Amino acid sequence: IGGAFALAGGGLGVYYAAAKRDTAGRIGFDSALAVPPLAGSAPGEAGSRVFTLGLRSGETAFKEGAATRTWGVNGAYLGPTVRARRGEEVAFAVRNELDQETSLHWHGMHLPAAMDGGPHQTVAPGGTWEPRWRIDQQAATLWYHPHVHGATGDHTYRGLTGLFIVDDDATDALNLPSEYGVDDIPMIVQDRAFDRDNQFEERIPLAGSLGVIGDEILVNGTLGPYFDVTTGLVRLRLLNGSNARLYNFGFSDDRAFSLVATDGGLLAEPWETDRLHLSPGERAEIVVAFEPGETVDLRSYPSPEYGGASGRLDGFADLLDICRFRAADTLSDDTEVPAVLGAAPDLAAEAVAQERSFVLASDRINDRSMAMDRIDFGVREGTVEVWEVTNDNGYLHNFHVHDVQFQVLTVDGETPPPHLRGWKDTVMVAQGRRYRLAMRFGGHTDPNMPYMYHCHLLQHEDDGMMGQFVVLGEGEEVGAVPAAHDHA
Ligand code: C2O
Ligand code: CU
Repeated sequence: IGGAFALAGGGLGVYYAAAKRDTAGRIGFDSALAVPPLAGSAPGEAGSRVFTLGLRSGETAFKEGAATRTWGVNGAYLGPTVRARRGEEVAFAVRNELDQETSLHWHGMHLPAAMDGGPHQTVAPGGTWEPRWRIDQQAATLWYHPHVHGATGDHTYRGLTGLFIVDDDATDALNLPSEYGVDDIPMIVQDRAFDRDNQFEERIPLAGSLGVIGDEILVNGTLGPYFDVTTGLVRLRLLNGSNARLYNFGFSDDRAFSLVATDGGLLAEPWETDRLHLSPGERAEIVVAFEPGETVDLRSYPSPEYGGASGRLDGFADLLDICRFRAADTLSDDTEVPAVLGAAPDLAAEAVAQERSFVLASDRINDRSMAMDRIDFGVREGTVEVWEVTNDNGYLHNFHVHDVQFQVLTVDGETPPPHLRGWKDTVMVAQGRRYRLAMRFGGHTDPNMPYMYHCHLLQHEDDGMMGQFVVLGEGEEVGAVPAAHDHA
């Protein structure tokens, strides 16, 4: 059915994508990789910086022929990279210039629930939302995207996504590659399905309702990108910004690279690997070494670990080209990958105030579907909890918790693999597996305004695989979500 799709029906709204399953070698790599601009800011009250982010619609020329109708932040597709330092007070004017309600959530950020940009902080068309908070976490690659209940997938897919980089002194002192756009490269990796008129197809979930999986890969909005390398070491800040697709990143010559940071910031020490899995919403900072004059491609490989070879439509089955790196004939560099990076997560020995278990199955968590007015539980400020997350049906899921970074204590009772030993806010939860996550709550309490936890396969989230918790101060009890917010 080449490029077209057919409705499978059955009330599931399941469509089957034209299956061009192997895209490696199909891509020309003839567009220079776009690098999102850094967001500008204006001085605000009390030494704060104010960023203005306009959410708008536009048109983007991704390929030959018609332009694609897209959404973007301060532009037609994607948004600028927000950068701020630990300790800094940031403020935003989030202006909704679209014709429908949306929101902007700061994924991975530790901040008051009312500033989180989740489904209770929607912005009406024409409205402006003005969150502000003090950055109180270590350097990390975070990101922002919409979070309207039931429409997070569509709104994110259309392009309202950007990076939010937190900097701090400890990370600056390390001499990692850090010149933005030169040897420190943001890479927002997204799959997209285009129809014959070059428009995004939003409704092509594969069998099993993973949601939309496209067969063309954009990096920072560039289809078939190349990047001209000028330094011997390059840091890539990888974001899996896809709605459902999983990536198993690696290079075409199987070279090793160093994983230096995960969702919440630096690992204790670099991990050398030649493959790295990322599920939707997860980030990784890797450092790659290049030789003068060489060309090598970043790809996503079928995953032996997660059944990519089994023929299941699980998003790990495809061999995909992502980006070509073309090294100059002479490479300058004075950066290095230090043997010691940050502090390891330290929650394993803490007293556990509460254990909870979360079973992911059939678009529900613990057999409950998300309800805007139901707070599922409250956690106590200053305490450490252990959440045990299991995937109890055949589909792939992952698990994301707002407000905190967590430590993966065990996977099926075993020590987690090296790429799960740093701070995480999103973790892939493969079928049948059991993950124990430790997290410390506190800093901001509000008995009435919840944070979310959910599967970050956005179709699952929109279908209800999400719940809400509040962080309680001393003596506080779980309250009630205030009636619909309108920040216009
Ligand atoms: Cu990236 Cu609750 O989301
Ligand atoms: Cu899921």
